[in-house]
Amino acid sequence: MKLVFATHNAHKHAEVKQLLPAHIEFLSLSDIGCTEDIEETGSTLEENAMIKARYVLNNYGYNCFADDSGLEIDVLDGAPGVYSARFAGPEKSNSANIKKVWEKLKGKSSTAAQFRTVIGVCIDGKEWQCEGKVRGHMTREKRGEKGFGYDPIFVPEGHTQTFAELGDEIKNKISHRARAIHEFLASISAY
Ligand code: IMP
Repeated sequence: MKLVFATHNAHKHAEVKQLLPAHIEFLSLSDIGCTEDIEETGSTLEENAMIKARYVLNNYGYNCFADDSGLEIDVLDGAPGVYSARFAGPEKSNSANIKKVWEKLKGKSSTAAQFRTVIGVCIDGKEWQCEGKVRGHMTREKRGEKGFGYDPIFVPEGHTQTFAELGDEIKNKISHRARAIHEFLASISAY
């Protein structure tokens, strides 16, 4: 089976490729000549993941899956959620996004939160979704240099260090993305 992962992020693509069984021909967007940005116009992670997977199926005719992730803070009703990358504006600045989280959390007693990934899948005329979550809390200062996005201010449950302090080896075992990918791999084991 040929299967496209609808991401322009080469790092994500390489990471997932290592996990897929060898009999699946794993293709990237550039392999199929898709160089355009697929617009994420949905208002939920579920919608955006399905928009991207369906776009590749409808425009290029390939079986496809796509992911969408976000940080969901309990006392902010799940914000920034689907708007995580552009929380503080279209520049997608990590430091401005982190400052905005702190502003919104001023005076709040709880900083409980989760990262969540949804994978949208279109294979052989069927559609489904897989999900991965990691619970934790936000810190009121930045700690650590590794990772990206909100990693320096997120401490996963069962740990005292932030994702940016813990680094990839631990993060890849417990992260929302890793959990969603494992659920996805289990769901395609019969193919
Ligand atoms: P994407 O869907 O994986 O591109 O994630 C969207 C946005 O959510 C990113 O730009 C980050 O702001 C945030 N995000 C998602 N996953 C992570 C993570 O593992 N660490 C930190 N921030 C993340």
